[in-house]
Amino acid sequence: MTQVAEKIQTAVDELVVLLGDRVSTNPNVRDTHGKDESWHHPHRPDAVVFPKTNEEVSEIVKICAQHNIPVIAYGTGTCLEGNVIPHRGGVVVDLMNMDQVLRVSQEDLDCTVQARVTRKQLNEHIKDLGLFFPIDPGADASLGGMAATRASGTNAVRYGTMRENVLALTVVLADGRIIQTSRRARKSAAGYDLTRIFVGSEGTLGIITEVTLRLYGVPESMASAVCSFDSLEGAIDTVIQTIQLGIPVARIELLDDVQMNAVNQFSKLDYPVKDTLFLEFHGSETGVQEQAELVQAIAEENSGGEFKWTTKAEERNKLWAARHDVTYATKSLRPGAEIWATDVCVPISKLAECIIETKKDLKESFLIAPLVGHVGDGNFHLGFLINRDDKREMEEAERLNDRLVMRALALDGTCTGEHGIGLGKMKFLTAEHGEGVSVMREIKKALDPYNIMNPGKIFSV
Ligand code: LAC
Ligand code: ZN
Repeated sequence: MTQVAEKIQTAVDELVVLLGDRVSTNPNVRDTHGKDESWHHPHRPDAVVFPKTNEEVSEIVKICAQHNIPVIAYGTGTCLEGNVIPHRGGVVVDLMNMDQVLRVSQEDLDCTVQARVTRKQLNEHIKDLGLFFPIDPGADASLGGMAATRASGTNAVRYGTMRENVLALTVVLADGRIIQTSRRARKSAAGYDLTRIFVGSEGTLGIITEVTLRLYGVPESMASAVCSFDSLEGAIDTVIQTIQLGIPVARIELLDDVQMNAVNQFSKLDYPVKDTLFLEFHGSETGVQEQAELVQAIAEENSGGEFKWTTKAEERNKLWAARHDVTYATKSLRPGAEIWATDVCVPISKLAECIIETKKDLKESFLIAPLVGHVGDGNFHLGFLINRDDKREMEEAERLNDRLVMRALALDGTCTGEHGIGLGKMKFLTAEHGEGVSVMREIKKALDPYNIMNPGKIFSV
């Protein structure tokens, strides 16, 4: 046995003493934990473990620390930038047994969940209390993973992202210490904001095992609307004016004609194949009506077509289910292909410029890439459909992606609004943050001196 194989075998033996049959070295189990939903190449971890408690996670991390083996936390594996791929091997910590809602407070509008509770599971759990949790990435992701990647989704324009909605975390650090980053108070000025250091750290500083979240009362009335446009400019100007006027839309999503074609086919809908806005309004009955009419008037001025709005739950659910499935809809345009889902975010006043220039690039390219976005936040995605083994296609996707990101940065935007850095966006981090990256590196070194926590992600050490 090589030295590396020997130390892994020793660590696995120790993990078996700790967890019994909740340690797997089965090749199939390892393979399912070696990938995410992106085009990034899978890599098999050495072992997968299934802890049940914070203390077990702590003991796992201590064993890995002792043998200097990478530890990668795993929720649903639905990330889009290779964030959870164990590309240097090591031990994947699958949190699937940590899926309990620990407490809900109707009075304080908050809850604490174990990391592997998914967003839909939480909403199911609290719906009879008249509460909901708004953050909704496409996939039914785990709340621990969403905290780790600072996820957002379609409601972020009204309710914020995980950044605004995580009140506190329980985190297992690289040396096995278990900390609580904050209390439940809505605000605090007590020391450094550790919660926000871990939100978005993508497993590189510790493993999030519990999450305390803000909750919201289900609005009295909700209406969704769909409006298609003859020109992309008209759709984007409608978004910009809506936001600039301060109309508190709950959701305002743009799907271009290519994306609408995919959505129609995949979700069996028959919307016009045109640049389209999906909207939602939350509030009192009159408030919702007022908001909808205001946006309708803005859309009309920007040559929008018919503004179809509804308060029927069934129709709204169908619309948003189709929206959430866009990644799968895009994939179905070209069976067998991979999807390279990229995302940038710019200040709202720069949104039109960023999208129009990007569409020019796409028109001149041979690749297909539907455009979809949480445009109320200035955030949008392209989903390049690629065969990752085809060099020409990969080079073209990379070229277009580079141009998109540099365009967003030039407009004072960011290389990722919601998917995170993972492996895919690492090369842009210095362009975005400059000297800030060296500060991040110092934080990483202080908290994880041996670089065992999801190593080789976000930036190199
Ligand atoms: C979405 C994913 C791609 O917006 O972020 O559906
Ligand atoms: Zn998105």
